[in-house]
Amino acid sequence: MTTTQLKAGETLSPVPPEPQAHPHRLVLLGPPGVGKGTQAELLSARFGARHVSTGDMFRAAEALSKSERTPTMNRAVEYMERGELVPDDIVLGILVERSERLRSGGGFLLDGFPRTVAQAEALDKCLARIEIQLDAVLDYDLPMAKIIARLSGRRVCPNCNAVYHIDARPPKVSGICDVCGTALQQREDDRPEAVRVRMDVYKKTITPLIKFYRSRSLLVRISAEGTPEEIFERTIRALQKRQNKAGKALVKP
Ligand code: AP5
Repeated sequence: MTTTQLKAGETLSPVPPEPQAHPHRLVLLGPPGVGKGTQAELLSARFGARHVSTGDMFRAAEALSKSERTPTMNRAVEYMERGELVPDDIVLGILVERSERLRSGGGFLLDGFPRTVAQAEALDKCLARIEIQLDAVLDYDLPMAKIIARLSGRRVCPNCNAVYHIDARPPKVSGICDVCGTALQQREDDRPEAVRVRMDVYKKTITPLIKFYRSRSLLVRISAEGTPEEIFERTIRALQKRQNKAGKALVKP
């Protein structure tokens, strides 16, 4: 059972982003439903960086029928649907297979990875090998009640992965994807039982990860209160502040 077998669940565009003068290499951290994917999309549009979501990769595997999935995919999907983390051996296999993509001149936004210190250490090693450094680790924060509201109102397109919220980001026609016209669904792991597990897992794993990145002076804490656009502007300001301090001007005005 090799991780290569997860390749059929690939959702990342094989087309590399355009090379950028100052490519952004960022990790997005934060609890389930805080809005990491939403911010990654906005940041990707602004910076031209590749959005890499391990969750999207596992959901692509989930979208296949059981008979189409490899044993590795089935194993990953079972963990995901329960709300648990997929074991490190599977996740790290994916990293190895895709490490070339991190070298791309357009930069990257890692959404949902790393989630454990073992994954963070593996990422460090992988980036060192290709002589690339992270610019920052964005740590989004929001009170639990608001997170639950975001998760329970989320609807996703099973065909093109577009993400909506019934109140905050509704589709033009209720229940139908604006992009491809497919009927929207609730994510399997947004069921209340799975959400409880995901929150518990997050609470157990986040502290060592925060410590890891704080000790490398990479951590940038950002409030996830407000609209996606407000959070995006807050993120840009936080990155500018950090880069001004470091004497670089990476974020274009
Ligand atoms: P993953 O897909 O990474 O899930 P997650 O971390 O739980 O995060 P979510 O995708 O639920 O939320 P988000 O923060 O991206 O929020 P979103 O932008 O969608 O992982 C899923 C599973 O895969 C894991 O549980 C695990 O099993 C497995 N997995 C993945 N990576 C792994 C790894 N590295 N190791 C091991 N296992 C791994 O926003 C949420 C909703 O809120 C949306 O409806 C959105 O429209 C709305 N919204 C967003 N921003 C706002 C706003 N400002 N105001 C109002 N609504 C908003």
